[in-house]
Amino acid sequence: CPHPVLNVSSRLRSLSRLQRIQGHMMSSHVEPEVLLEKVGRAGVITMNRPKVLNALNLSMIRQISPQLKKWENDTETDIIIIKGVGGKAFCAGGDIRAVTEAGKLGDSLAQDFFREEYILNNAIGTCRKPYIALIDGITMGGGVGLSVHGRFRVATEKTLFAMPETAIGLFPDVGGGHFLPRLRGKLGLFLALTGFRLKGRDVQRAGVATHFVESKKIPDLERELVELKSSSAENVSRVLDSYQNQSTLDSEKPFVLHQHMSDIDRLFSSSSVEGILQNLKADGSEFSKKQAEILSKMSPTSLKITYKQLQAGASLSLQDVLVMEYRLSQACMVQTNRLNPKWNPSTLEEVSDQSVDQCFSSLGEKDLTF
Ligand SMILES: *[C@@H]1O[C@H](CO)[C@@H](O)[C@H](O)[C@H]1NC(C)=O
Ligand SMILES: *[C@@H]1O[C@H](CO)[C@@H](O)[C@H](O)[C@H]1NC(C)=O
Ligand SMILES: *[C@@H]1O[C@H](CO)[C@@H](O)[C@H](O)[C@H]1NC(C)=O
Ligand SMILES: *[C@@H]1O[C@H](CO)[C@@H](O)[C@H](O)[C@H]1NC(C)=O
Repeated sequence: CPHPVLNVSSRLRSLSRLQRIQGHMMSSHVEPEVLLEKVGRAGVITMNRPKVLNALNLSMIRQISPQLKKWENDTETDIIIIKGVGGKAFCAGGDIRAVTEAGKLGDSLAQDFFREEYILNNAIGTCRKPYIALIDGITMGGGVGLSVHGRFRVATEKTLFAMPETAIGLFPDVGGGHFLPRLRGKLGLFLALTGFRLKGRDVQRAGVATHFVESKKIPDLERELVELKSSSAENVSRVLDSYQNQSTLDSEKPFVLHQHMSDIDRLFSSSSVEGILQNLKADGSEFSKKQAEILSKMSPTSLKITYKQLQAGASLSLQDVLVMEYRLSQACMVQTNRLNPKWNPSTLEEVSDQSVDQCFSSLGEKDLTF
């Protein structure tokens, strides 16, 4: 399902009021929501909706996808860079408001949005040229899908990563079923179920980013990448490595989950979500108690779907994961209780295996194809 911009809905409302006012003041000036520019030998994608933390919507996807294909074929283009404006966010998620509204009404937007978004996620994962995501700020849900499948992901101290979907009755899509189970041990399952937020260097330590560079060095890094007269991944890698080597911030600080990794591996190794919750409760440590409390607030249906999604995704290609997630996205759209803090069903025990399995079943000719 889509990628929530958590805790910002009231901010979004006041911002949209502000935008309306500004719209009246300068009604002739419309900023494009995404910039697609050729800079040197680089194709540069810039998400340009700073007021909504660069939330991704369908019209942005429809501009990015064909341009990415063109640059991939273009002999004058060596690399692709993607970033966000505003200094706060790379991309805080999908613009789910329009989509969930549409889902309720049975509008085709809910089909088109996920289909086209997942096709773009796959295009990024299979891009033949070095694709470099500068995730200098909030990177959640849909923003993760625009970065994590690419060859290079550069985090800074401002990066805030999360897949928070289980908190709003959804599941960690955009290929979450592919990259999460490939993180070490049970880390991905932990991040997926709890929505745990990783910051700064920890985003790289977890394996979500490939590099860490201090935020103030990003403009120089970008300039150097753009001036690079080579499309080889080795040469891009060398530039990124050298900037990383000059970035010492927090280098001594251990990974935030360092102390807990063996507990996570042990407690999240169970054949069911109920089992994980039992493990956490039986463990009794502060950390486990906290995680049990967090899980008890999440949608029980989401937790079970997510568990199965990651379990299946561990041995599937990115494409096959996206086909599975598209089925799930459409199943979530017909459920009515999303964004409702009182879940229905309200307990894990009430969520039957059969109802979970149903969400994974084929859509026939409506299945996602590439
Ligand atoms: C996407 O966002 C832009 C800028 O806010 C808006 O003009 C456009 O209508 C939106 N498109 C969709 C499909 O939501
Ligand atoms: C890219 O090139 C391939 C083969 O060279 C071609 O089939 C495809 O249509 C091209 N795509 C675009 C968007 O130009
Ligand atoms: C990589 O960069 C070096 C110079 O630093 C250059 O000699 C070499 O040709 C480049 N590699 C490729 C594949 O372009
Ligand atoms: C960066 O540091 C690593 C480890 O200290 C070293 O192996 C590597 O050569 C350095 N790379 C660059 C480009 O400076």
